[in-house]
Amino acid sequence: MFWFIIIKTMKDKIEKLLKEANVPFEFIPLPEGLPMDVPSHMKFYGDTMQHALATMIYKTEKGLVAVSRRGDTKVSSKKLRESLGIKRLSLATEEDMRSLSLMPGLVPPLGHSIPIYIDQKLMEIDYFFDGTGDKVIGLKMGIKDLLKLNKATVGDFTSKKKNDSIKRVLSGITPSGSTLHLGNYAGAVKPQFDLLEKGVESYYFVADLHALTTIQDKDKLEKCIINNVFDYIALGLDPEKGIYFRQSDVPEHSMLAIVLANYIPFGLTNRMHAFKDKLAKGISKEKINMGLFNYPILMAADILLYKPDGVPVGEDQRQHVEFARGTARFFNKTHGETFPIPEPLIQMGNASKVIGTDGERKMSKSLGNVVNIFDDEEVIRRQIMESYTDPNRKHTTDPGNVEGNPIFVYHDIVNDNKDEVEDLKKRYREGKVGDVEVKEKLFEAHVRKFGEPRRKRKELENNVGLAKEILENGAEKARKVAKETMDQVYQVVGITNKLNR
Ligand code: TRP
Repeated sequence: MFWFIIIKTMKDKIEKLLKEANVPFEFIPLPEGLPMDVPSHMKFYGDTMQHALATMIYKTEKGLVAVSRRGDTKVSSKKLRESLGIKRLSLATEEDMRSLSLMPGLVPPLGHSIPIYIDQKLMEIDYFFDGTGDKVIGLKMGIKDLLKLNKATVGDFTSKKKNDSIKRVLSGITPSGSTLHLGNYAGAVKPQFDLLEKGVESYYFVADLHALTTIQDKDKLEKCIINNVFDYIALGLDPEKGIYFRQSDVPEHSMLAIVLANYIPFGLTNRMHAFKDKLAKGISKEKINMGLFNYPILMAADILLYKPDGVPVGEDQRQHVEFARGTARFFNKTHGETFPIPEPLIQMGNASKVIGTDGERKMSKSLGNVVNIFDDEEVIRRQIMESYTDPNRKHTTDPGNVEGNPIFVYHDIVNDNKDEVEDLKKRYREGKVGDVEVKEKLFEAHVRKFGEPRRKRKELENNVGLAKEILENGAEKARKVAKETMDQVYQVVGITNKLNR
């Protein structure tokens, strides 16, 4: 509700600014239920991504800045840092966004209280489309008019790297023992599988060394690792297509972490969330294990070892990927271009933070607000049936809200019958369908999508040998790449020794 108020005023604010400046613009009504992503909007307008405007908020040592780019380009952080004369640059956190009354993914093109920069590629188009903060109203206006209004600085920030230059990706999965839920699926597993399907060279590993920060029981660790293999293989990971392995099977991860640690300032590590969260929970600094403190260093090694172009992870891992990028820069500065700077590939919109069944917080096993994937059908049915929906809807005949409504968020994730989803959303908005029917349909969709993987997983459970074999084969392939990088690193830092190779 709180956001709703802000969003409403955002549209009004834009309208007021445009009218006062007397520049031509168009507010375009959007159909209800249009997905929140930019490509869907452009498709609706019948236009291409080059006429989409995207604005990002960045955090720098000089404060927050807004940067607008064309939908078909990316911003080069290097160029941006150089033009702005700044050293540090990272995407604004949700907290920063909130301080500006903004919502991630919903940044309006004008009316900012912070300095705004416009990528020069935008000057090649006449008009652009953007949102207004109101889900059902789009904005079309001239790029020159935007400049008049925004007092922006135009510069060359275009990255030469395009999205299709993502040829190799890498990601790690910490085996935690908990079974996968819809949040894991939408935020991490699905995007990873999509890349694999697209033919991108993919390295996925079970981060058992990272798991040691919390699991210090041999049998439990083994079980968690094998469970992770079951999950991934059951969901359709093809070990012939993607390289899937166990972190500790490739000793170069540990070797590189020790080297990289020397290029990373203490202060940077000290500011990392995982560590700070523990402090916030009241656990004494004296008692936090060094594995947790060093976690980002090992993760930087995991990533840089394979020189990937992209790292598909959930939003919660953004800071870690930024850390790895920083590490690569520190190292390169000393020893010359050794590590390419990888892009964090993070899902936007609903998938980045799947809401839990409590309708309030992010889906998380520890909060007990999950819909599982591999549990028994009765458990999944209960999780769905007990989920919150629209808290303001008292009767089936009341018009309901589908945006941010957990049951519809889950429909978007699991129900491949998109016509059915649209029909349910329409009827829900009109007060013509009850919660129970929407939930029943969700349960059926869940069975359609995950029934087969569930069966397959049961079958795999009797074949631990196969799981181990998959990991071993994967490690053999991974080691070839890892060894090459490690040789290069030892070479440039001056640790070369016939015996260590
Ligand atoms: N920290 C990640 C998580 O908890 C797992 C991870 C370890 C990882 N190393 C990685 C992810 C390297 C991406 C790249 O989910």
